Amino acid sequence: MVDNIFKEYGNNPALLFHKWHAEAEKSEINDPNAMALATVDKEGRPGVRMVLLKGADENGFTFYTNLESAKAEALQKHPYAALNFHWKSLEKQIRISGPVVKTTDEENDKYFASRSRASRLGAWASNQSRPCEDYSTFEKLVAKAEKKFAGQQIPRPEHWGGFRVMPERMEFWIGHPDRLHKRFVYTKQDKDWTAHWLFP
Ligand SMILES: Cc1cc2nc3c(=O)[nH]c(=O)nc-3n(C[C@H](O)[C@H](O)[C@H](O)COP(=O)(O)O)c2cc1C
Repeated sequence: MVDNIFKEYGNNPALLFHKWHAEAEKSEINDPNAMALATVDKEGRPGVRMVLLKGADENGFTFYTNLESAKAEALQKHPYAALNFHWKSLEKQIRISGPVVKTTDEENDKYFASRSRASRLGAWASNQSRPCEDYSTFEKLVAKAEKKFAGQQIPRPEHWGGFRVMPERMEFWIGHPDRLHKRFVYTKQDKDWTAHWLFP
């Protein structure tokens, strides 16, 4: 069973992810990097929201956010997450889960510096996930940040950074007519992956 998955799709699910992601970059206009991120909060309740993939390598799948947001609080309590990519144009889905670590200050600074000025100001102005009186309150905080950093580089706020999901399970789904879909999963044991088919 493992053998026929490995023969057709390879023995490294990260490479298979990159192959499908490259296809999605051509066909999925908005947005091949969008992924659902599921977490569990301190009460044990699940939460899911979209985030953007900003790096995928042998270490895992990285996204950036406000480190005081609901998702960040959940991840601090339960450092384990699930991701879901659904590329409609390809009729493909990839589900990934595993432990989560924070990205380094160096990585955070590098990615923050690459963002547009407006999104850097937004990172200062948004008290993400907290109640906000109205939209103009947020706009005023953006204007305040704009004034504060006028003519200057905008540094990364302490409360802004990334998380990396280190996959220990990666499941691949390919849509087929009449709902006779293909589905197979790779699981990591030490450093090696094994794979098996799942009924769809
Ligand atoms: C397509 C899409 C991409 C998004 N990407 C991000 C992201 O990379 N980081 C982020 O903090 N929020 C992102 N958001 C907003 C989140 O979905 C969410 O509203 C926000 O992070 C607050 O979530 P939380 O309260 O669960 O922490 C994105 C939303 C959409 C629809």
